[in-house]
Amino acid sequence: MSSSGTGARYRVAPGGVVAGELTVPGDKSISHRALMFGGIAEGETRISGFLAGEDCLATLRALQALGVGIERPQPHTVHVSGRGLEGLRAPGVPLDMGNAGTAMRLFMGLLAPQAFDSTLIGDESLMRRPMERVAAPLRLMGADIRTHDGRPPVLIHGTPHLRAIDYPLPVPSAQVKSAVLLAGLRAFGRTRVTEPAPSRDHTERMLSAFGVEVLRQGATVAVEGGQRLTGTSVAVPADFSSAAFFLVAGCLAAEKGLLLRNVGVNPTRTGLLEMLRLMGAQIRVYAHRQDGAPGGEPIADIEVSKSRLKGIRVPPSLVPLAIDEFPVFFIAAALAQGETLVRGALELRVKESDRLAAMAQGLTVLGVENQLLEDGLWIRGGSGFGGGTIESHGDHRIAMAFAVAGLAASAEIEIRDVANVATSFPGFLEIARSAGLQIEMP
Ligand code: S3P
Repeated sequence: MSSSGTGARYRVAPGGVVAGELTVPGDKSISHRALMFGGIAEGETRISGFLAGEDCLATLRALQALGVGIERPQPHTVHVSGRGLEGLRAPGVPLDMGNAGTAMRLFMGLLAPQAFDSTLIGDESLMRRPMERVAAPLRLMGADIRTHDGRPPVLIHGTPHLRAIDYPLPVPSAQVKSAVLLAGLRAFGRTRVTEPAPSRDHTERMLSAFGVEVLRQGATVAVEGGQRLTGTSVAVPADFSSAAFFLVAGCLAAEKGLLLRNVGVNPTRTGLLEMLRLMGAQIRVYAHRQDGAPGGEPIADIEVSKSRLKGIRVPPSLVPLAIDEFPVFFIAAALAQGETLVRGALELRVKESDRLAAMAQGLTVLGVENQLLEDGLWIRGGSGFGGGTIESHGDHRIAMAFAVAGLAASAEIEIRDVANVATSFPGFLEIARSAGLQIEMP
């Protein structure tokens, strides 16, 4: 694999123009869910457009260890032979989730009500991430879960008879919401989760596609325990979060436009579009005919052109809807005229890295005036980037964000520790080069 080994780095030559059209790989959130829901469904699930990134492959391997039959006739096509809600078997070994927070947290909800014990582990970054946010509500349901000072390894003593809860989420988190709903499928009674602000709703949509009745009332989503899932077909759209790097690249350097095809535009994911538009970006969204099937995800082609951006105060309501896109948004902000301020983004400190600190550090290296705030970042934009060496802290999105910055740099940018780009965006280097980024992996 071209991007393996912790010594992997990118070298990005300054300048360049982006053009043409491209399709980024499948959605990570949707690929994880399609595998997991397929595994606990009855009958076969056929997934097309599957993201063959390291994170989703960790989910795939964990399901195999749990006894789920999985075939991959092609890299992006997966057939899952579901074992039903009660058909998983004891894994015998700790389940390694790699870098994937989504995998670990959703598996907690899936495994807490099983008749066997399991242990969840991950890589260095995942072993530092908070898991109590999921363990706490599951314990209220009667689950027996232990963490190590709030972090992995997560030890689950399977407890088949959970009880439903009514749970107000302390932070907007699709992972916590999903874990509680998955446990709720095996609990006695109706489990309700209330969100302080909308988070991505792929779980709700996809459970409906698998035949589960999901009740939504205002900010509350509920499932009745004991419902069965029926295998189905899932067509995974291209990942908006991967497209995001090219949306910003287009704003910086698409003199004649750049077209991104078949992008998932679920409104709980597209906060970045609003933010870039508020900055003055020229972006056109050509929505595809909406798929009428229950649980369908909206898809669009998106065209972006080089734009004169201006700094903004990011509306707090958009923060959860753009949570994974802030690294590359900060690159756009650094090039926008004037000041940009993001607050209410404390969650960025507990992602694959502390993304507020990592971005502030990298922007400082490139000569951009910024101030790291407890829950956000202030940036004075408009003076371009210099060159320098950036620490990605092993975080895929930090690495890709700074690769995009090369388009507006005056000297070479070196980005260290980029192997984890393969967790979410296998083939990034090739696609980025085909679009016009002058990037190589020495
Ligand atoms: C995800 C939810 C988000 C997001 C993550 C994927 C998901 O995390 O940051 O990359 O697939 O449910 P939170 O649930 O912590 O907000």
